[in-house]
Amino acid sequence: MKWEFPEKLQYAYDALEPHIDAKTMEIHHQKHHRAYFDNAIKALGGMPSSTVEETLLSHLESAVQNNAGGFYNHALFWQMLTPRSSKAPIGALKNAIDAKWNSFAEFRDAFEKAGLTRFGSGWAWLAKNKSNGEIEIFSKGNQDHPNVDTHTPLLGVDVWEHAYYLKYQNRRADYLNAIWNVINWEFCEEQFTT
Ligand SMILES: [Fe+2]
Repeated sequence: MKWEFPEKLQYAYDALEPHIDAKTMEIHHQKHHRAYFDNAIKALGGMPSSTVEETLLSHLESAVQNNAGGFYNHALFWQMLTPRSSKAPIGALKNAIDAKWNSFAEFRDAFEKAGLTRFGSGWAWLAKNKSNGEIEIFSKGNQDHPNVDTHTPLLGVDVWEHAYYLKYQNRRADYLNAIWNVINWEFCEEQFTT
């Protein structure tokens, strides 16, 4: 991933309504995501020439991990959402999910559980293990990256309160349940197959 803040998302802030409200999207993108980007560049002493992934693996100081991780995770997150969701996995990823979890419903339960049981702030991830091609669900705390040294992220869901508090207050489970309406499975499939 390049070090470039996405000034415009591929959809309007209100496009994911009613599942994710416009105000949450605007603040999340313009305030939270931008701050991670700005603070990462500050912590690095300027714009790095390496990719974001390379930076995450070579700068282990917490200011970089927190902010570069936050930049990276959110840059993926916006692309993993769409107002025109197929509402279910497609293609090779659909087959891999069915093979591992029997059905999309069972996969969804496992993924939601990863998000629900992450205490405090963090992310739930579906990722492909680069060494054996296996898909795995796990969660990470804070803005830790999804193991980019060993895994390719396919789907990540932000479970920080800033991602859902305005609309869902403390009801993380309701947010996780609603998000399946706006997942960009085409993007996840691309991540899986390339
Ligand atoms: Fe976030």
